[in-house]
Order: sequence, then C-alpha cells, then structure tokens
Amino acid sequence: MKIAIASDHGGLEYKNKIKKHLVTKGYDIIDEGTNSNESCDYPDYAKKVGSLVVSGQVERGILVCGTGIGMSIAANKIKGIRAALCSDTFSAHATREHNDSNILCLGQRVIGESLALDIVDTWLNAEFQGGRHQNRIDKISELEK
Ligand code: RB5
Repeated sequence: MKIAIASDHGGLEYKNKIKKHLVTKGYDIIDEGTNSNESCDYPDYAKKVGSLVVSGQVERGILVCGTGIGMSIAANKIKGIRAALCSDTFSAHATREHNDSNILCLGQRVIGESLALDIVDTWLNAEFQGGRHQNRIDKISELEK
C-alpha cells in the first residue's frame, strides 16, 4: 500500500517515527515533509497529502501536528477527503469500518508514541464495511457539492 505522510513542526518527531515503522513493515511511503523543527503552517502539509490521496497517487494519508486538530480541519476542506483525528484504537478501527476515512490525523502533544503506532497499525488494517455506511458516505459527498 502506498501512503503519503506529512507533519508540521509540532508533529515532526512522530512523523519520522511512523515513517520508519511503516517502511520496516514494507509500506511504500511518500514523505511530504516537514523536515525541520522550524515553525511552519500545517494547512500546507494537509494540502500536499490530501492532493495525493484525492488524485489516487496514494491510497491513504497520515498527518501529524501538535494536536492533530489543525491538520484534520484543513484536510477535511479538500473534496473527497475524509480525515479522522484519532487518539484511541477503537476510533481508528471504527473510522475505517464506518467512515472509510482516507486520512488519519494524530496529535504528537496528545498521545504517547507507542499508542500512536498502534493507532496507525489498527487504522491501516481495518476495512470499510460498506452497506449502510456507504449510503452515509454518499450523503457526505452530497454535502461537498
Ligand atoms: C503548532 O504550534 C500547532 O498549533 C499545530 O501543530 C497544531 O497543534 C494545530 O492544530
């Protein structure tokens, strides 16, 4: 699976750790930055990853900032993006099964590193259930028009 990942300065450490973790597991990772601790603007990185997801160049995206909130707000402005901010594995599983989320957002200042990696693994391994959930996704798509 091809995955795009990015962060702002507030999520840089986890972005790099998640990237390393996923490369070890054999995922094909596109790193869209940031690559320094210098202060930067999270919407720029949400846009980079969101664009790769909606264009089909990658299957999924992962965005990390201090809280995960700014990244999720920004990414969800992009048509076709369903970004889920998760701080627990139950939500990570449920948002794939029910919402078919295509971007996972994480807050480096909110959760521990091991939990972040568990959430990533859970989210990547859970499958969308379709059925009644597809009707709801269709209604979200209607809202974008
Ligand atoms: C950066 O200081 C911080 O505002 C950002 O990483 C994020 O938490 C925004 O939602």
